[in-house]
Amino acid sequence: MSTITANGAAAPARKKLNGYVGFANLPNQVHRKSVRKGFNFTAMVVGESGLGKSTLINTLFNTRLYPRKEIPPPHAERPKTVAIESISADIDENGVRLRLTVVDTPGFGDFVNNDESWKPIVDNIESRFDAYLEQENRVNRAKLVDNRVHACLYFVQPTGHALRPIDIEFMRRLHQKVNLIPVIAKSDTLTDEEILSFKQRILADINHHQIQIFYAPIYDNEDEETIAENDEIVRKIPFAIVGSDTEVDTADGRRVRGRGYPWGVIEVDNEDHCDFVKLRQMLIRSHMEELKEHTHTTLYEKYRSEKLVGMGVTQDHSVFKEVNPAAKMAEERALHEAKLAKMENEMKLVFQQKVAEKEAKLKQSEEELYARHREMRDALEKQRLELEDKKRRLESGRPLTPEKQGYQQASKKKGGFLRN
Ligand code: GTP
Repeated sequence: MSTITANGAAAPARKKLNGYVGFANLPNQVHRKSVRKGFNFTAMVVGESGLGKSTLINTLFNTRLYPRKEIPPPHAERPKTVAIESISADIDENGVRLRLTVVDTPGFGDFVNNDESWKPIVDNIESRFDAYLEQENRVNRAKLVDNRVHACLYFVQPTGHALRPIDIEFMRRLHQKVNLIPVIAKSDTLTDEEILSFKQRILADINHHQIQIFYAPIYDNEDEETIAENDEIVRKIPFAIVGSDTEVDTADGRRVRGRGYPWGVIEVDNEDHCDFVKLRQMLIRSHMEELKEHTHTTLYEKYRSEKLVGMGVTQDHSVFKEVNPAAKMAEERALHEAKLAKMENEMKLVFQQKVAEKEAKLKQSEEELYARHREMRDALEKQRLELEDKKRRLESGRPLTPEKQGYQQASKKKGGFLRN
């Protein structure tokens, strides 16, 4: 039995089970399948050279995923544009496989003129969307490879003041294409008070420029503990981070990942020292799937619909259509048919144009022929009249007109003759 909701759709009635059926095991089935298939995640890191991007990635995934970069000699020629480099690795934790791809953007913000630094990055993100869209439009789309960027860690310089124009421009250009996660790089170079006021200033700038950064969503039906954890994560944004892929000894004899100073050790994994733990929790432990889902259902979907509208296809945004595979197929069929109809129309137009050109040409030749025919006919008629006149004169014995005599003499000079 079903009840009818306000929008006319039938809502299934809730039924109580009389005994154990077994579908409570569904999450385990999904879990087993996911573990078998493995997971994939693509993260992008953006920020000026030397802000600790590679160190942070190595720290996050606890591996030397990112090779130590050679420090270029001072005279080495520097690249003139932002390059995009990506590296992938399969990492395994307790039998769960994760294919991690890190997209680096060396050169960003490193030039005298950084006006268009964001452009190659936007192009790269869009080309990844395009590659996914192309796969979706294939006849066989059983295995879609998802190379879209699921999160972008934007490294803010630890100036302690405010966001710079380059930071704002980058975020403004990117916020509707990727999950933006701003982080304060090398936060060990700032005091706690500086970090606090810097965070407030960054958030104020972000709000002022209406930039949407990624906030871990909080759902009503989640347990209190999860809601509290999420709330704590949200309160740490933008994360003040410290990265280190080496271990140091603390004063109390522990060996920790951190950075050693004459006055003590900054521990990467200590929540009192920096927000690294919260960033890792959001990015890897609690919200990796959320980041991927938001990329797919919101950011990619926006890009996709804008692209289709740009191609002249209108789209119905009803929720039903978004989630209904039949509606999606119908939409794609309509898109295909629209494309065919457009091609057919264009071919028709070209054909009609060619026919019209041919007809015009034929008409012109016909008119020319007709004019020549008329000319020849008139000339012949004139000649006939002259001959008749001459004949009549000769028969009547009358002399030729002076005009005709001239003609006769001219003919004789040329060696011709006139018949009488
Ligand atoms: P490029 O490869 O030039 O783009 O630099 P990057 O952003 O990848 O920086 P990288 O991770 O190579 O770090 C540059 C230097 O900063 C290294 O000497 C790191 O040890 C150091 N570093 C990295 N993270 C931190 C940090 O959180 N605090 C401090 N104080 N230094 C850091």
